[in-house]
Amino acid sequence: MQSTTQATAHADSTNIAGKVVVITGASSGLGEATARHLSATGAIVVLGARRIERLEALVAEITGKGGNALALATDVTDASQVQALVDAAVNRYGRVDVILNNAGLMPHSPLERRKIEDWDRTIDVNIKGVLYGIAAALPHMQRQKAGHIINVSSVAGHKVGVNNAVYSATKTAVRVISEGLRQEVKPWNLRTTVISPGAVATELPGSVTEPDIAQGIGQFYEQYAISADSFARAVAFAISQPDDVDINEILFRPTRQEG
Ligand SMILES: NC(=O)c1ccc[n+]([C@@H]2O[C@H](COP(=O)([O-])OP(=O)(O)OC[C@H]3O[C@@H](n4cnc5c(N)ncnc54)[C@H](OP(=O)(O)O)[C@@H]3O)[C@@H](O)[C@H]2O)c1
Repeated sequence: MQSTTQATAHADSTNIAGKVVVITGASSGLGEATARHLSATGAIVVLGARRIERLEALVAEITGKGGNALALATDVTDASQVQALVDAAVNRYGRVDVILNNAGLMPHSPLERRKIEDWDRTIDVNIKGVLYGIAAALPHMQRQKAGHIINVSSVAGHKVGVNNAVYSATKTAVRVISEGLRQEVKPWNLRTTVISPGAVATELPGSVTEPDIAQGIGQFYEQYAISADSFARAVAFAISQPDDVDINEILFRPTRQEG
């Protein structure tokens, strides 16, 4: 059996234990898996999404295992709600060490179908939501002179294909914003990471509103998608580095995914 000292030394060596980590889009998929993974490594997780009942169930699960978690209903298209989420973390736990700007949707369709509502929502959640997360966390992190902002892009942020022009544009924007942020936050010693996953099994294909496109994407995910824990481990890898190491970008795919 490990002694308390050994257990503490192990937890400290991860550079995750005790950190206050805000996660948007924590009610399913990648955000939910990351909340579980990080809390199991000793992080305090502060969870935002619109489906508060799912967040509350996750908080109950985490606290039931001895972890520390807080949930707040958050729509990332509303800057004041994202600010309230981050402020809740700081008010309850005294600081915010990491924000994972993860909330997103992927309603693929060809441009000629003119799915303007889908375009608006995708831009509002995938780009503005990330910016609002940055805006909410930055003042706290500047004051702390410490912090880590992790944004979620996609393989689609590296390449565009048919049906995903708008999604790909939003995920490219996330990469560009992340790189600009990286350069700007040097004076405060902040770290920035952008993570670009390939196909990971989550509820994301459910955000496709065109039935024929949804069918193709559903088949692709059934064939290729890997477990959401793959993403959680990538997040943990970035956070767990020593403070003078800044993992700027991670791109990963299922081994069998070609494109
Ligand atoms: N899964 C993949 O293959 C994959 C690949 C590359 C990138 N990504 C990216 O990974 C991120 C997470 O997606 P996922 O795969 O985990 O999909 P998911 O299971 O559908 O989860 C999406 C999350 O975003 C939240 N969300 C959506 N709209 C929101 C809003 N307006 N305000 C707050 N939260 C909102 C959802 O919560 P509520 O509905 O409760 O609000 C949910 O928790 C997205 O940015 C996605 O683009 C995923």
